[in-house]
Amino acid sequence: MRYYSFFVACLIGILSGCKQDLTVTSPDGSIKAGLYVQAGQVGYFVKVDTTDFILPSPLGLQAKRGVLDKDFKLMGVKHASAEEEWTSPWGENKQHSDRHNELEAQFKNTDGVIMTIRMRAFDDGIGFRYEYEVPGPDTVKVMDELTCFNLASDGTSWSIPGSFGTYELEYRTLPLSQVQDANTPFTFRLPSGLHGSIHEAALYDYPEMTLSAVPDAVAPSFKANLAPWPDGVKARVPKKFRTPWRVILITRDAPGLVNSDLILNLNEPCALEDVSWIKPMRYVGVWWGMHLGIQSWYDDGRHGATTANAMKYIDFAAANGLEGVLFEGWNDGWASWGSRDDFDFTKPAADFDFDKVVDYAASKGVSYILHHETGGNIVSYEKQLDTALDWAAAHGIHALKTGYAGGISGGNNHHGQYMVRHYQKVVEEAAKRQIMIDAHEPIKATGIRRTWPNFMCREGARGMEWNAWSAGNKPEHQTILPFTRLLGGPMDYTPGVFDITYRNIVGNPNLKAWNNNHIATDCRCNTTIAKQIADWVVLYSPMQMACDLIENYQGHPAFQFFRDFNADCDWSRALAGEVGEYIVVARRAGDIYYLGAVTDEVARTLEQPLSFLPEGCTYRAEIYADGPDASWEKNPYSYTITTQEVTSADTLTLALATSGGTAIVFKPL
Ligand code: NOJ
Ligand code: CA
Repeated sequence: MRYYSFFVACLIGILSGCKQDLTVTSPDGSIKAGLYVQAGQVGYFVKVDTTDFILPSPLGLQAKRGVLDKDFKLMGVKHASAEEEWTSPWGENKQHSDRHNELEAQFKNTDGVIMTIRMRAFDDGIGFRYEYEVPGPDTVKVMDELTCFNLASDGTSWSIPGSFGTYELEYRTLPLSQVQDANTPFTFRLPSGLHGSIHEAALYDYPEMTLSAVPDAVAPSFKANLAPWPDGVKARVPKKFRTPWRVILITRDAPGLVNSDLILNLNEPCALEDVSWIKPMRYVGVWWGMHLGIQSWYDDGRHGATTANAMKYIDFAAANGLEGVLFEGWNDGWASWGSRDDFDFTKPAADFDFDKVVDYAASKGVSYILHHETGGNIVSYEKQLDTALDWAAAHGIHALKTGYAGGISGGNNHHGQYMVRHYQKVVEEAAKRQIMIDAHEPIKATGIRRTWPNFMCREGARGMEWNAWSAGNKPEHQTILPFTRLLGGPMDYTPGVFDITYRNIVGNPNLKAWNNNHIATDCRCNTTIAKQIADWVVLYSPMQMACDLIENYQGHPAFQFFRDFNADCDWSRALAGEVGEYIVVARRAGDIYYLGAVTDEVARTLEQPLSFLPEGCTYRAEIYADGPDASWEKNPYSYTITTQEVTSADTLTLALATSGGTAIVFKPL
């Protein structure tokens, strides 16, 4: 380690002697990153407050043809700065500021390969990307990415394993030194209290990056591991290409990670001229019944998406002021889960009168959210895509949930370049027809919503569905998601189960285990009811679902919170929290504020100042809290609703039960 520091110091000395400054510092001066060349190989390092954060770590790619990783000489260096305010058409925040300094260093090697490293330092982390020009034929086959993240010390980390097939895996809390592989966002805390998260931004036409531990390294070191094509090639790129940004968020505390704009700032401005049709929404749908196993996606006598059921859900949405309704199982092909190319995206099921349902929803002012489950059959889906989207648009549809539950065509990885291209194609084709996308089994979120704001949300982690047919999401799950998965962007978690232990489906004659796992009545949600409500605030999505059967909401006093909620927030802020323990988030939509607080399996009392409210205004706080006797295991249904007048000078005591929560709506008086 000492050797490297000395080497870097010498190198900086030599280079600055040549007036080629290969370092870049954040606007506030706290983060300093830089590049070096050692025996023709380029690397980088990061320091925070002059202390090593990332030790010298190699950079470069390897290709089938051409040397992309060595024999480099520095050709030139440019420095730039940016200070820009920009807005997005929908929440969590509409105002953003991008302040960074940039280093652009160009290297050339004996093969004539030009490699430019563009590195940006922000007050809350750094990002860098490769820009290559490779002489010779038009296509380059990237075989490996050598980027390493050599951390300067051990610490605690939170991550899912580095699978190329799914993100629906349990989070692990592990010392950095014990992580073998991980997907990103890969979040960690160092003994100094600094928090970090390694991720990527603007992932286009390239495979996803996971991380693999470097064996026998002196300190925890991780190397980029790209999802390959079936033939082992990692990426097929043109001879002039650039990679996604490699991102390291660095903040003083855990909420700082959540409050960072860095990933969005590394994405390009909005590509759409007219965004007036993009509208966040709250929704209900024919969905949870299938996961519970009391309904099915096709007509086996238990079909959920029947015309009559759809009408009921539309009436419920309209009566409660909700903007959207989803019907899964509306189309043909579900009996075989789309095998033999059976999913047909323009053919409604025999007992689902599509035109009638669409017209009824429109007459009630409720948006119809269409559903395309592909089962992973991309070839069949892409064949139908144009017709299917034209057909949807002709029916006045502006929202589409997609799904990829199954093996991908041609043996491709779920997260490889083939799929990255596919997800993007769907978003762009949908945008042409003014359709918003909510993708399940998606590619990870990397801030593309700034450029393509019709890409509203996605799944990409264990969502609510896991509580219906598995041991379920652990109490800590919702206290890890905001600091990991959600750093990439909003998640369609689908919160809001009020029948937490499924007591209302006991004895239902239709009940069946639908996927050979647990039967729903052996399962449950591992939270209190107040935590389910708080999740609507904490787990932000611009398409936010109240996922339970509507019968469980009808007449329930606590459903008022969802009626009062707004999925289109103007401003959001994580106020407090520790990864895997608890989080408190505040949001504002118009002049109404919301607060959500959730905890893991530990009950805790939080003193929360209301200084985020504007000074001099009085609010009526409507507080949905755990009952004094609530606990997720023994008494999950115990809750209270109280009201109180408050101002920004007040502090509220939030008493959270085990796996409990508090949700508050602040209405100005
Ligand atoms: C998995 C999705 O996450 C879920 O929301 C959907 O209901 C099923 N696939 C069927 O499409
Ligand atoms: Ca899923």
